[in-house]
Amino acid sequence: MEFFEIAGGNRLKGTVEISGAKNAALPIMAACILVDGETVLHNVPDLADVRQMQVLLQRLGVKSERDAGGAMHLRVDDEMNCHAEYEIVSKMRASVCVMGPLLAKRRRAQVSMPGGCAIGDRPINLHVDGLRAFGADAELINGDVLLRAKKLKGTDIFLGGPFGSSVTATANIMMAAVLAEGRTLIESAACEPEVTDLANFLNACGARITGQGTPQVIVEGVTSLKGAEHRIISDRIETGTFLIAAAITNGDLDLPGGRIEHLRAVVDRLRQIGVIVERGEKGISVSSARRLEPVEITTQPYPGFPTDLQAQAMALLSLADGNSIITEKVFPDRFLHVGELSRMGALLRKEGPTVIIQGTKKLVGAPVMASDLRASAALILAGLVAKGTTRVHRAYHIDRGYERIEAKLAAVGASIRRLSE
Ligand code: UD1
Repeated sequence: MEFFEIAGGNRLKGTVEISGAKNAALPIMAACILVDGETVLHNVPDLADVRQMQVLLQRLGVKSERDAGGAMHLRVDDEMNCHAEYEIVSKMRASVCVMGPLLAKRRRAQVSMPGGCAIGDRPINLHVDGLRAFGADAELINGDVLLRAKKLKGTDIFLGGPFGSSVTATANIMMAAVLAEGRTLIESAACEPEVTDLANFLNACGARITGQGTPQVIVEGVTSLKGAEHRIISDRIETGTFLIAAAITNGDLDLPGGRIEHLRAVVDRLRQIGVIVERGEKGISVSSARRLEPVEITTQPYPGFPTDLQAQAMALLSLADGNSIITEKVFPDRFLHVGELSRMGALLRKEGPTVIIQGTKKLVGAPVMASDLRASAALILAGLVAKGTTRVHRAYHIDRGYERIEAKLAAVGASIRRLSE
C-alpha cells in the first residue's frame, strides 16, 4: 500500500493551479444517463473517484473516454442495465447519483444501499422519498433499493433533513425532475456551487431549471435532453486546502482557478485567524501572518463553512495562539482525525459534535493513518509544518479527491514523497 512521507518545516511559495471540482464532475457524469447524443466535459479532474464513476457508467451502458486534450466524451450506447451494484457503490458513495437519472430515463433504478462510512451514518432516505414523490414505487431487495415507475409526474418536494439540505439528494431529484411530466418545485434544495453547476449543465442540454443556487429550485419537465459541451467549475475544497496549506506553513501562494465567491465563509474565518487572502489576477492569492489567532468554526451547508474543510481547519487551529472551537453540524461523527492529529502533538478535546482545540507551539512528525479523504488532507497539512518526518498511511484515500497532491505541493517547496510499504 502507498503512503506519503513528509519532512516538515518548509514554507510553501509559488503557484498551484486548481483542478476541476470532484463533487461537480461526478453528478454531471451521472447526468449523462439522461442525455441523447454526445456530451463533452472539460476540466474533469483525474481522480480515483472519477475513474470509478467511469467504470460504473460503463456497466450502465455509458461510454466515456478522454481525448488528447483531456476533455471527457460521454455517450449512452446501451440502456439495458439499471443496476449499480454493491461492489462499486460501497467504494464510492457518489454512485448514488445514478439513481435519479436511471429512474427518469429508463423507468427503473436498482442501486445498492451505500451503508455507513468513516465520516458516520449516511442515509439515503431523502433521495428515495423524493423519488417516490414523483410516483415511483420503491422496495428494498438484497440490500438494494429498487425504484420503478411507468412515468414520473412533477410535484412539490420538501428536501430538508435533520441536518439541513442534502447535496446529492438535491442532485438526484433535480435530475429526475428534468424528464418528469410538468413542474417540480424543490424546497430546501442544497445551494452548493456544485448543484448549480449540475443545473447549468442540464440547462445546456435543454432542461428548464431555475432557482439553482437558492433553496427553491423549479424544474419544468422536458421530453428529452441533447448532448452539450460544459466546463466543470473549479474545486473549492481543493482551493480551501491550499489556502490552509499556505496559512499553516507561513507561506505565500497564488491559486489560479480558485474562486473567492465559492469560499466566503472560509475566507472570513481565515482572515480572522490572521491569514491574508485576496482576489488574485486569475484566482486567489494567500499569505500568512506569523501569528495565528484562535477562532470558532461551525460547519453548515453552503454558504456556511464546509464540512469538507473541517479536518484541515483543525490542523491549522492546533497551532493558533489560544483556544479554538470547531462544531460539526453536517456530519456530527466526522472526527476520526482527532486521534491522529493528537499523535502529532495537537491538543484536542472532543465533546459530542464539538472539539476544543488548545493551540500549541509545535506539532511533531509521526506515522499516522488516513481514515477518509479530507482527514488525510488534514494529516498532510499537519505533516508540512511538523518537526521531523510524518508518514500518512493509506494514500488511496487522498487519491480519491485530490489530483496529484504530492506533485502540486512539491512544486511549491514541500518535501513530500509517495512511497510503497
Ligand atoms: C456531499 C459531498 C460531500 C460533502 C457533503 C456535505 C458529493 C459527492 N459529496 O455528500 O463531499 O461532505 O455533501 O457537504 O457531493 N442526510 C440524510 N438523509 C439523506 C441524505 C443526507 O439525513 O437521505 C444527511 C446526512 O447524513 C448529513 C446531511 O444530510 O448529515 C448532509 O449530507 P449530504 O449533503 O447528503 O451529503 P452528500 O450529498 O452525501
